[in-house]
Amino acid sequence: MREATRPDTLGPVIVISVLSLKGGVGKTSVALGLAGAAAKRGLKVLVVDLDPQGNATSILQARHGRANAATVLEHPTAESLQRAVTKTAWSFKDGRVDVVGSDSELIRFDAWTGKRNFVPKLARAMKRLEGYDVIVIDCPPSLGALTREALAASRLAVVVTTPSYFGAQGAERAIHEINEIRSSVNPDLRFAGIIVNRLREKTEEHRYRKRELIAIHGPSAVLKPSVPERVALQQAESTGEPISAVKSAGARDVAKVFDKQMARLLKMARDADASQSD
Ligand SMILES: Nc1ncnc2c1ncn2[C@@H]1O[C@H](COP(=O)(O)OP(=O)(O)OP(=O)(O)O)[C@@H](O)[C@H]1O
Ligand SMILES: [Mg+2]
Repeated sequence: MREATRPDTLGPVIVISVLSLKGGVGKTSVALGLAGAAAKRGLKVLVVDLDPQGNATSILQARHGRANAATVLEHPTAESLQRAVTKTAWSFKDGRVDVVGSDSELIRFDAWTGKRNFVPKLARAMKRLEGYDVIVIDCPPSLGALTREALAASRLAVVVTTPSYFGAQGAERAIHEINEIRSSVNPDLRFAGIIVNRLREKTEEHRYRKRELIAIHGPSAVLKPSVPERVALQQAESTGEPISAVKSAGARDVAKVFDKQMARLLKMARDADASQSD
């Protein structure tokens, strides 16, 4: 595999957390969709699977090594993080996706320790990690301690929701958590927006729920375009391929959306860097 050339314009590593209050809304699908889109652009991407269920780890077909996300939280150092990195088959002309796999032991780190006692571990381990342009963290389906670890280590936070009755409420709680982490331990964190997933464009109820999200959170808070519901995504996950490698109209629809969203997130991170250095 050829070494990737890191685009000069990119700036420091961009860490993106993908989270939601609710389970099953598509966090893992979105996290891997964004990771695949970034790698396709020629970037070196690391996926950190912070969900004890380990779905991202399974889809990426990473072997369950002795070093994993749980051992990183146990010993939060750059060396322990480096040891936990596994290669995956997701490699493109220049870019590629590596993964820090999940482990069921991660559940131990989801215990509530109280906000005052929160000392971020993942952020500490990631501080000196080199060799990546983008790090995508797949969060568990709760706003507990593991999600706080992810947010404390991130520059951008993406909230995933489905166009449903509880969607707006769940997004609000997730945004509240992002604001808490920004005001307590990570002033660099920025709420990047809500990704509406599994949108059935022809269903009036779905269009209504999307309009509702825009009305509550504002048009710039709902990232465009939304991810349509396509079985191609499920097929890609079952074969462990990036969606861009699947040759079907549905797969192309979804891949195009992740490309656009990733471009948006990269721009957002660059703009935030530029305004900080002003
Ligand atoms: N846009 C989509 N179109 C069709 N199926 C989808 C779409 N997004 C996700 N799915 C499917 O929905 C299921 C749940 O998605 P996913 O695992 O990404 O959700 P999650 O939020 O990560 O779940 P959990 O909270 O359990 O971690 C998966 O089977 C996935 O393939
Ligand atoms: Mg998941």
